[in-house]
Amino acid sequence: MKRRVRKVYWVAFVVMIAAIVAIVNFSSSKKDQPVTVAPGKNGDLRAVRATALEVAEGKRIAEASCARCHGMDGISKTKGIPHIAGQRPAYLHHELRAYQTGVRGEKAMDGAVKYLSDDALVQVAAYYASLEPAPAVATGVKSASAKKPDPVQAGKVAAAGCSGCHGEGGISKIPGMPSLVGLHPKYLVAAMKAYKTDQRKHDIMKSLLMSKSDVDLENIAHFYALQKPDRAQTPPINGKPKSGESAAAACAGCHGNQGVSGNPATPSLAGQDAQYLVTATKAYKDGSRKDETMTGPASALDDATINDLAAFYAEQTPKPPNVRKPLTTAEWAQKCDRCHGINGNSTDPLSPALAGQRADYLEKVLHDYKMRTRKSPPMAAMSDVLGDVDIADLAAHYARQKPRSVVFVIP
Ligand code: HEC
Ligand code: HEC
Ligand code: HEC
Ligand code: HEC
Repeated sequence: MKRRVRKVYWVAFVVMIAAIVAIVNFSSSKKDQPVTVAPGKNGDLRAVRATALEVAEGKRIAEASCARCHGMDGISKTKGIPHIAGQRPAYLHHELRAYQTGVRGEKAMDGAVKYLSDDALVQVAAYYASLEPAPAVATGVKSASAKKPDPVQAGKVAAAGCSGCHGEGGISKIPGMPSLVGLHPKYLVAAMKAYKTDQRKHDIMKSLLMSKSDVDLENIAHFYALQKPDRAQTPPINGKPKSGESAAAACAGCHGNQGVSGNPATPSLAGQDAQYLVTATKAYKDGSRKDETMTGPASALDDATINDLAAFYAEQTPKPPNVRKPLTTAEWAQKCDRCHGINGNSTDPLSPALAGQRADYLEKVLHDYKMRTRKSPPMAAMSDVLGDVDIADLAAHYARQKPRSVVFVIP
């Protein structure tokens, strides 16, 4: 009798524990359950199809050839070495082949894969893909970047103190003060940096810009480049625009036919304040503004011609430079996620996951794509339009995303 009661208690206890385990499992699996997707048919999918035996063989290879840098867990503790745990299997295999064939030049990796057979590459790729990915880095590292304000709005704020001299929206109203509208951001940033480093000497401009960061300068430049251009609202000078037009034939090759430049490094002159055009040209001529390209053209001009040229260019209609509104990190990430999956969790076995990857590595490879030392047509196109600040922000953004493992089911 006593025995039976005890047995009932025992059964109840076991059922209760089982229920608790089930609940805990359910709630955690709901969060961490790997996504299940069927891969497309393109590309070499052998690493996706690898059997448990092949994964075990891959582990043996990892021990011998990879662990000293990537660890057996595929989670890097070293700057420059990427996490590879839980990375998409066919992508890993593809990259290992790229290192082996020298397409992706990187000395550290060339040596590690040089003597491995293709089967071994498939196996070791499958092994690392099967591991739990590295946890996302905690917030704190550059955590504000994802909420980065609209760059143009930020530029407007940073340029608040400039309109007193350069006019509202960068259209000058004061003779001798340059308009900033209609100029390409590349030129504007270079000009502002030149003041900061004294390469271009102007004490007032230097003191006004010293406190501005590189990001401020980029934002300010984009703000002005996106304002609607108009001619400077300053009085004409004593010059003959008709004569200026003929003299401008010597300048058109660089500054464009009507003073609208097609080269981001060469400033447009159309609609610029005439007095400023005179001062700037004379500064090149007397060497107080130093620039190898302009010294020659300016030194050939006499004062009357300089006035004529300035009168001609000031009359021309300025055009907006060919730039698009810069995107916020969130807007960029939306574009990247189209190929790299939601929050960088790729569901394509050939496309790398970015979530939780080391920020230093992401930043490095994005520059590699940009410099073409790492070749990929889609990434070349993407990285070309990214500025250094965008790259740093995107790297920090993806390093903070929570990685999710993916199970690829082969029908
Ligand atoms: C001497 C250190 C070292 C060894 C050994 C090594 N790696 Fe690497 N691995 C690196 C470095 C550094 C990089 C980043 C190179 C770059 O930027 O292209 C890298 C990159 C990779 C990548 C590219 C990851 C990506 O996201 O594109 C893969 C895949 C990889 N290693 C796998 C392996 C495997 C598998 C082995 C063993 C067969 C191995 N590595 C051995 C240092 C090493
Ligand atoms: C006190 C008047 C004053 C203020 C305020 C001022 N600037 Fe200037 N800025 C000038 C003058 C004068 C020049 C021409 C200097 C020269 O000859 O190099 C100039 C030149 C420039 C140029 C070069 C234009 C070109 O065509 O090469 C840029 C860019 C510029 N300023 C940006 C700014 C920005 C951004 C601010 C606000 C942070 C600002 N300036 C505030 C007076 C001012
Ligand atoms: C070989 C190309 C080239 C030719 C030809 C050339 N320029 Fe330039 N010009 C430049 C470049 C590049 C700059 C920007 C230099 C700098 O950063 O100071 C510039 C700057 C200027 C500026 C300063 C604009 C500003 O916003 O500060 C003026 C004014 C100017 N050029 C006038 C002329 C005139 C007038 C001629 C013809 C007589 C001429 N340039 C011919 C390349 C050229
Ligand atoms: C059209 C599809 C596409 C888009 C859009 C795209 N990527 Fe990629 N990305 C790829 C492919 C494919 C690869 C693998 C290329 C290779 O083999 O080097 C890649 C590789 C990468 C890598 C290297 C990952 C590693 O582990 O080494 C990074 C970092 C990256 N992309 C970041 C980005 C960012 C940031 C954006 C958005 C600005 C972006 N990508 C947009 C297709 C895309």
